[in-house]
Amino acid sequence: MAISGGIAAYKCCNLVRLLVKEGASVQVILSPDATKFVSPLTLSVLSKNTVLSQFYNADDTWNNHVELALQNDLIVIAPATANTIGKMAHGICDNLLMATYFSAKCPIMFAPAMDLDMYAHPTIQENIRKLQKQGNILIPSGYGELASGLVGLGRMAEPEIIFDTIASYFTNQSTALQNKKVLVTAGPTYEAIDPVRFIGNHSSGKMGTAIAHSFAKSGAEVVLVCGPGVQQNTSHNNISRIDVMSAEDMLHVCKQHIGKTDILVMSAAVADYRPANKATQKIKKKDNVLTLNLVKNPDILSYLGEAKKEHQIFIGFALETRNEKSNAQEKLKRKNCDLIVLNSLNDKGAGFGTDTNKVTLFFKGKKSKELPLMSKQKLADELVQESVKLLSTRKVTKEKKR
Ligand code: C5P
Repeated sequence: MAISGGIAAYKCCNLVRLLVKEGASVQVILSPDATKFVSPLTLSVLSKNTVLSQFYNADDTWNNHVELALQNDLIVIAPATANTIGKMAHGICDNLLMATYFSAKCPIMFAPAMDLDMYAHPTIQENIRKLQKQGNILIPSGYGELASGLVGLGRMAEPEIIFDTIASYFTNQSTALQNKKVLVTAGPTYEAIDPVRFIGNHSSGKMGTAIAHSFAKSGAEVVLVCGPGVQQNTSHNNISRIDVMSAEDMLHVCKQHIGKTDILVMSAAVADYRPANKATQKIKKKDNVLTLNLVKNPDILSYLGEAKKEHQIFIGFALETRNEKSNAQEKLKRKNCDLIVLNSLNDKGAGFGTDTNKVTLFFKGKKSKELPLMSKQKLADELVQESVKLLSTRKVTKEKKR
């Protein structure tokens, strides 16, 4: 719970109380100005936790904003003043609350609170829209009496409304895909040259493991097929991990599970070719040139796409360096997918090994959606939302057919 410096800050005592009563573990961070509107001591008693507002404490210890940011399932900024919204929209990081916001990977909700003319100002409205476009969830302000005595829009949503928004967010998240089975592939494949060498690629598996976690959080049962070297934490009650080495191994495991799968997400960077023959002994250094004959690997997604059932949703990834759009659209058809996630190597922050990604989603019927740069975890959450939408349209078309 992040509280910035507006008079509505005092109402957040009630919000903290409601959240704690519901069993939530609440860490309150105040902006320096918020401490003038509401007492840290009150919030500490209500949250049963230390309340933080400064980078540094009197005993010369510091509050690690990265740890603070990463330990949450959700950050709620309420009240979000015009000042804090402006800083969020423009990368100004001059207090602990802002540093925590910019380091966060979890979803963010923000509840604006300000006087009616400030709220109506085009710059503030533009900032709010910008934050929403980046994936932040707006808890809209209400109409009513304001601290100035004026009456209008800009009043922070009541604590009960903010509480309900938070509660329904978690309920939807944990049940949206209950009873659904999801097959996710992640990481590279290694194609053996001899017992010690292989052909591989730089895929880290970060995207695929983030996808597995997002589906698991949404109640789905996930089978996660990992190529070699995937080091992310994949432990979750709803995730069963299977480690494989080569493209052929991955195909074998996918074939075993596809019959029971509702949603397939092929995020693995599967090697397109493998050595025609794997030497049984380490190849000795001899001539100046060593020629390796490569043969084509099975295209797992195309293979599974040929037998795709009507109820199944298939999501593929594409990493292109040129003709990105037309290649992604062609892949969507050829691999019989419902959605292709296009990463472009031309975009900063996208691709192998990074914690962020910038993608465009291509759907059937030439529809596409360009997403801003975001953390891989946030993108994974987006893909879960898109899968829920695709499943619901599938249901509607089925019902229409009947
Ligand atoms: O054709 P291209 O390799 O660009 O397609 C990428 C998509 O196809 C990814 O979803 C990837 O996981 C999948 N793929 C596959 N089998 C291969 C190569 C790629 O399933 N041999």
